[in-house]
Amino acid sequence: SEIEKGDYGHFMLKEIYEQSAVIKNTLSGRVSANHVLEEAFGIKAKDIFDKVNNVQIVACGTSFHAGLITKYWLENIAKMPCQVDIASDYRYRNIIVRPGTLFVTISQSGETADTLAALRYADELGYVGSLAICNVATSSLVRESDFSLLTMAGREIGVASTKAFTTQLCALLLLSLVLGRRNGMTDESEAQHVTDLHKLPGLVDQVLELDEAIKELSISFADKNHALFLGRGNQYPVAKEGALKLKEISYIHAEAYPAGELKHGPLALVDDKMPVIAVAPNDELLGKLKGNLAEVSARGGKLFVFADESGGFDDDGDYKLIRMPAVPDVLAPILYTVPLQLLSYHVAILKGTDVDHPRNLAKSVTVE
Ligand code: G6P
Repeated sequence: SEIEKGDYGHFMLKEIYEQSAVIKNTLSGRVSANHVLEEAFGIKAKDIFDKVNNVQIVACGTSFHAGLITKYWLENIAKMPCQVDIASDYRYRNIIVRPGTLFVTISQSGETADTLAALRYADELGYVGSLAICNVATSSLVRESDFSLLTMAGREIGVASTKAFTTQLCALLLLSLVLGRRNGMTDESEAQHVTDLHKLPGLVDQVLELDEAIKELSISFADKNHALFLGRGNQYPVAKEGALKLKEISYIHAEAYPAGELKHGPLALVDDKMPVIAVAPNDELLGKLKGNLAEVSARGGKLFVFADESGGFDDDGDYKLIRMPAVPDVLAPILYTVPLQLLSYHVAILKGTDVDHPRNLAKSVTVE
């Protein structure tokens, strides 16, 4: 049956609001109260996982950003190295595969030409197996991979990916946990992560309540030609995803930088016409990030900070502040993605673009 927008003006907004429900769907049957149910990865998975000591991720677009975040999880949770590549680049390189490497593709559609070509190329390179994280059960990517874990986002219609991304992240966190189990992660640690995951849908709903405040914020962007997104650690890929969303649907040139790299170039661009958006959970890098933000303020840059309510940012500071709920470090990249989706949506509305069908872009790029 035809999917309707309902009361939402656009599919993108509907899909943003569906996120807590589809995250629940993606977790359902894959986790118990405190444990990942590994069978969810299929019967072939166990033997392959037992051989894995390294992970190669390949994807395009927003799915590539999910891969970038996963690298931090694999390092921290599974204590495993991880390489992340853009499919169109990977497929034309001379890839050197270390023994024990799992090949992981991430794709909403499962039909992206470059990602499929990368999988076919990888098939001859000696990986221990290929895993697809995908939203379409009947896709070529799922059919051609050794095994798959489906994201249960439901059909995504807006060209700019939202709910597919956050459910990919949930699936990839489950992957990090099953690999972590084999590499020294304790049962207590797994139980903590899974307990936290069960709280994620509620946290996402809390962030959606910031919608009005974010809409207000969007007014400051509608007349801008550029924007800079900053994050540190696993928030750097979140900043990249925020910048991509803004580019895709509002046509504002946006760039993301790891905040520590500011002084090596982008600081030269900062003036009072350059909005700078920062994602600032209360993690171990917060102090460093604050130092970087002070550098922006000192140059007259207009700061917009999405910050943990416990992060010590003052309401009367030299920035516009959106207070985010406290969130476990591991889940912060998923949660901080949501306000940036809303921001780009509201900016696009102010600019009057075709939100669900941005110019020159396709939902699924099935040709090279
Ligand atoms: C296109 C879409 C993006 C998507 C990318 C990768 O560029 O517009 O939203 O992230 O393809 O698509 P995939 O289906 O492989 O995730």
